Amino acid sequence: MNDKTTKPMRILSGIQASGSLHLGNYLGALKKFADMQSIDAERFYMIADLHALTVWQDPALLLSQTREIAACYLAAGVDPAKSTIFPQSAVPAHTEMAWLFNCVARLGWLDRMTQFKDKAGKDKERASIGLYTYPVLQAADILVYKATHVPVGEDQRQHLELTRDVAKKFNHDFGVDYFPVPETLYQGPGARIMSLRDGTAKMSKSDPSDNSRINLTDTADVIAGKIKKAKSDADVLPESEDGLNDRPEAKNLVGIYAALSGKTAQDVLNEFGGKGFGAFKPALADVVVDRMAPISDRLRDLLNNPAEIDAVLKAGAERANAEAAPVVTETKKLFGLWG
Ligand code: TYM
Repeated sequence: MNDKTTKPMRILSGIQASGSLHLGNYLGALKKFADMQSIDAERFYMIADLHALTVWQDPALLLSQTREIAACYLAAGVDPAKSTIFPQSAVPAHTEMAWLFNCVARLGWLDRMTQFKDKAGKDKERASIGLYTYPVLQAADILVYKATHVPVGEDQRQHLELTRDVAKKFNHDFGVDYFPVPETLYQGPGARIMSLRDGTAKMSKSDPSDNSRINLTDTADVIAGKIKKAKSDADVLPESEDGLNDRPEAKNLVGIYAALSGKTAQDVLNEFGGKGFGAFKPALADVVVDRMAPISDRLRDLLNNPAEIDAVLKAGAERANAEAAPVVTETKKLFGLWG
């Protein structure tokens, strides 16, 4: 992935500062952020508090959620010595770049975004303009660091396509090779974790049922209880992966086991094929508790020490500003602005 003869690999990703994080965020994003620290790369991981504003946020709660997400990064093993962790709103280059990209991105591209359609619902006239232009700010987040790789869950694929389109159109319009066209890293088990109550719906912060997700703040007992109550079906587990087609809940639970234990779904079925959920669920609960309970313990400790979190965010914001500000200045010059 990293061609040493060309530019170094630069990783950027972010998590929106709204609601508590869950197992889907962990497997789709946080775990990858931590795992990618073993490769030779520069890493920028932000807390997307500006993106959170696209729907109403209570100001005091938003601030505490930003800290909580930073604490989740740290608890999941993202190390501030290896990765720059910062709040998006502390780096003005993001919003400045977003305006410039508003003038590059096309209305037709935004009209195709399924996430806007899902989030705005039927009453789109009442949605904020920010919700509509959300993917343009996301393109700015990524390109203002000239990032080359973006680890995300599968649901962010369309936003990343738009980022790639912005980079290509900008380079084409100005006849330059200025922005890298970033690669989306969404592969692997855990890229799409589904609700524990409905295997056809994504595990999500906004699901009204808390039993639909494992939160990073859940204790071992709560986790075990949620796995016990998770929707399953009456059949035994199949011997091969094909047998999981049309069994969304079974597929999801096997996928969670696989992603957390570093195995393939087929490995899991080699062990549990022919067994029912009465045998599989307790084993799954053990794996989830084993991996997630230490994270939730660390998270609770960190949340008792907000000064430590703030110090990480402040140092990260300084480093991020130093990287992003010159890129905006150069981009403005390429536009023919005063810079
Ligand atoms: P957000 O906050 O909705 O989600 C954060 C990350 O978690 C992943 N994710 C999942 N992965 C697997 N299964 C799930 N059920 C699941 N739910 C969420 C998401 O794919 C994401 O990787 N727009 C982004 C935040 C953002 C960003 C960026 C990301 C802002 N700027 C620049 C990358 C680069 C968002 O709202 O993610």
